[in-house]
Amino acid sequence: MDAQDVSTDLTEVLYTKEEIDAKIRELAAQIDRDYADKDVLLVGVLKGAIMVMADLARALQSHVTMDWMAVSSYGSGTKSSGVVRILKDLDADLMNRHVLIVEDIIDSGLTLSWLKTNLESRGPASLEICTLFRKPEAVKVDIDVKYVGMDIPNKFVVGYGLDFDEKYRNLDCVGILAPHVYQ
Ligand code: XMP
Ligand code: MG
Repeated sequence: MDAQDVSTDLTEVLYTKEEIDAKIRELAAQIDRDYADKDVLLVGVLKGAIMVMADLARALQSHVTMDWMAVSSYGSGTKSSGVVRILKDLDADLMNRHVLIVEDIIDSGLTLSWLKTNLESRGPASLEICTLFRKPEAVKVDIDVKYVGMDIPNKFVVGYGLDFDEKYRNLDCVGILAPHVYQ
């Protein structure tokens, strides 16, 4: 079987590799303009943001540094618990740095809202958020997100870093996970 043949696991492909690439390039162009005279520290949120981070960082013309944080608000299920745990903290000191959080997806927004408050308290010169996907119908908290790739329906999606139970992260597209997989 083709490793990427998951046609029975997805009900629909939302974005192909090409569409994701194009959107990443748009986001990178915006970020390049906004940070033209600044050094930016990209903070990737593990593990979901690995693909976004890798592609976004390479699409940027600006010099950037990268750091990673791992937080957990999900178990193996598909709903945010709202309880956030730091599994791995940043190596970098954020004091006076221009920080851009790089996320795969904003669902309820609970994770990012918590993360933003946490990083804000470390004294960055600026702090913004870039997310590839957002589910507007699922958002429960008001957070200011400067860079949004795509607004998507309130369905559980996988691929391009996004997982269900650690699977599907390596898909090059993003699709809606078929309910039979998690029910
Ligand atoms: P919240 O609800 O706090 O969720 O905004 C944030 C984190 O939950 C994960 N998440 C998903 N992962 N498909 C996934 O594979 C989804 O549809 C999905 N929705 C949320 C993701 O890690 C995100 O950072
Ligand atoms: Mg996840």
